[in-house]
Amino acid sequence: MSSLVADPFDLRQWAEGPPHDLFRRMRAEAPVHRNPLPDGTHCWSVFKHADIAAISRDTATFSSEQGGVFLHPDQVVPLEVATNMLLYMDPPRHTHYRLILQKVFTPHSVAKLEDSIRERVTRTIDDFIEQGSCDLVTDLAVPVPLGMLTQLMGVPDVEVPQFYEWTERIVAAQGAPEPAAAAPVLAEMAPFLHAQIERQMAEGQAESIVMRLRTGEVKGEELNELEILTFFAVLTFAGNDTTRNTASNGLLALLQHPGLLDELAADPSLIPGAVEESLRWSTVVQWFNRTATCDTEVGGQAIPEGDRVVMWYGSGSRDEDAFDAPDTFDIRRHKPDHQAFGGGGRHFCLGAGLARAELRIVLEEVTRRMKNLELAGDVERLPSNWANGLVHLPVTFTPGPREAS
Ligand code: HEM
Repeated sequence: MSSLVADPFDLRQWAEGPPHDLFRRMRAEAPVHRNPLPDGTHCWSVFKHADIAAISRDTATFSSEQGGVFLHPDQVVPLEVATNMLLYMDPPRHTHYRLILQKVFTPHSVAKLEDSIRERVTRTIDDFIEQGSCDLVTDLAVPVPLGMLTQLMGVPDVEVPQFYEWTERIVAAQGAPEPAAAAPVLAEMAPFLHAQIERQMAEGQAESIVMRLRTGEVKGEELNELEILTFFAVLTFAGNDTTRNTASNGLLALLQHPGLLDELAADPSLIPGAVEESLRWSTVVQWFNRTATCDTEVGGQAIPEGDRVVMWYGSGSRDEDAFDAPDTFDIRRHKPDHQAFGGGGRHFCLGAGLARAELRIVLEEVTRRMKNLELAGDVERLPSNWANGLVHLPVTFTPGPREAS
């Protein structure tokens, strides 16, 4: 295989979305592939579901903290700042910090949010329903997770546009050529966060994530403002775009499979299965990196200490050894063990329950209120080899009633 063709990072392969033909070949011919990088270094690309799961579960051998979760240690933000983020921590530090946030995301806490998610989805759809047309990305998939995140953080609705601008810049920093491209955004967010903490303390808003972080302790020590700020940034990064991209890719897949939207409208009990298949199908976070802490092996391939290992979740979620007919969009799969939320283990997505609830309610309301949904223009993709995202998804539809009959 020539290195160009076998390079999953090469953006030319991503024009139509994730390069599933290439992933399939790599799984068959080079499941753990030494990937030369433009700066003269290399990493190991890992394509099989079982190997990704094994790496994810072995945090002692495969560190998130040593070299970060992207290929360049200072990608997005400088590594010394990033190591304040959960994603970049190894146990035991990771375990202590994760405990602070865990309570916000328990199934019980998510169940309590159900009404406010539905209310937000309803209001969002109200804004465009009478037009009979919309852009499912900008009009629906963007505002719902963004609004839920700001609500959880105790940030007032009037601040949402400013927050949106920051989130877009943090996400763009992931693909930026220069290191630490999000550092200026964090500097801008710092005084805002400081004001949020002051206001929320004065108002006694004990339940918001900001206050949970402010009053949270690690081994008896309160978190400092830099730690809180980077937690804030990781949630912005992890909780927003991911849900948006899954909602838009999932809706696109449903639109491309005639009859499925009608089936969901007729039998909403199929919707949780459609959500799970949308997660698997789009696996919107395509990869994360780990660094080998010692000489080791993955899938029989020797990996020297200090080498970087990139887990291609998008490939793991289509592995023929893990799924029957992996390239078929099948909403009736039984418990698909996909890797959209990572390969399992300690870093498994903290917001998975919230994301599933948001995606389910979006599908429930779309199938109930937007009848005869059809594509009405070109679908525009995000040019990225890391985020599987859509920029525009124009549709037309026949407006249905606001209240459930
Ligand atoms: C469909 C939506 C989402 C997808 C596809 C997704 C995907 C992921 C992935 C792939 C990871 C890394 C897992 C690993 O390294 O093993 C992750 C971690 C994380 N996610 Fe999500 N995520 C989503 C929604 C959310 C939401 C809504 C939130 C919170 C509001 C959230 C918060 C987090 C956090 C805090 C982590 C870091 C966990 C840790 O390092 O312990 N995510 N997510």
